[in-house]
Amino acid sequence: MTQDELKQAVAHAALRQVPQGEIIGVGTGSTVNFFIDALATMKDKVRGAVSSSERSTERLKAHGIEVFDLNVVERIPVYVDGADEIDPSGAMIKGGGGALTREKIIAEVADRFVCIVDASKLVPVLGKFPLPVEVVPMARELVLRRLRALGGEPRLREGYITDNGNVILDVHGLAIANPREFESSINQIPGVVTVGLFAHRGADLALVGTATGVQEHAYV
Ligand code: A5P
Repeated sequence: MTQDELKQAVAHAALRQVPQGEIIGVGTGSTVNFFIDALATMKDKVRGAVSSSERSTERLKAHGIEVFDLNVVERIPVYVDGADEIDPSGAMIKGGGGALTREKIIAEVADRFVCIVDASKLVPVLGKFPLPVEVVPMARELVLRRLRALGGEPRLREGYITDNGNVILDVHGLAIANPREFESSINQIPGVVTVGLFAHRGADLALVGTATGVQEHAYV
């Protein structure tokens, strides 16, 4: 199976996690694109979606799925999104696609986080994939220095501005032994909007596409 076929398989499997008649959270990325296309096949059974990026919003609307502002939605029973890496505790690195801030906000509101990934995203320790950090532009150099002091090699994502008007520093060379502590440390740096480490609010369930089928990993 190709990587795209694995992504498609988990995207279809995620439909079983979608409750009927509700507004669901929708993430961003190539795996989520397959999920949005799959969701379109049952669009009459969902009320609509809250979206984590302009890209996903466009795709949802193109399928005729209503997109709600998070501020008018009290409850999101499930949030479906991909990840760049996921560890055995369900902690993730996200933000390779640059949508980490809106993703983290929606994940915080959601009752359940369902992560859809192909098997290449499973890792024993997070950090091989560069950790994205969204930063207010005037704080870029300050945050660079602080991230270096924490042991990483931050690099500016050249020519990229987030949906929120900020820049992204991708932090290379990490092996994140304690994701919760590391997430808290980076959150303490003034000018950091969001770190793409989802450890305090990790996944509840991962659907993992493998050559032999979709595996379910539940986290406590
Ligand atoms: C988007 O900002 C990311 O958090 C994505 O969820 C992540 O990069 C996974 O994307 P793919 O499904 O394209 O690998």
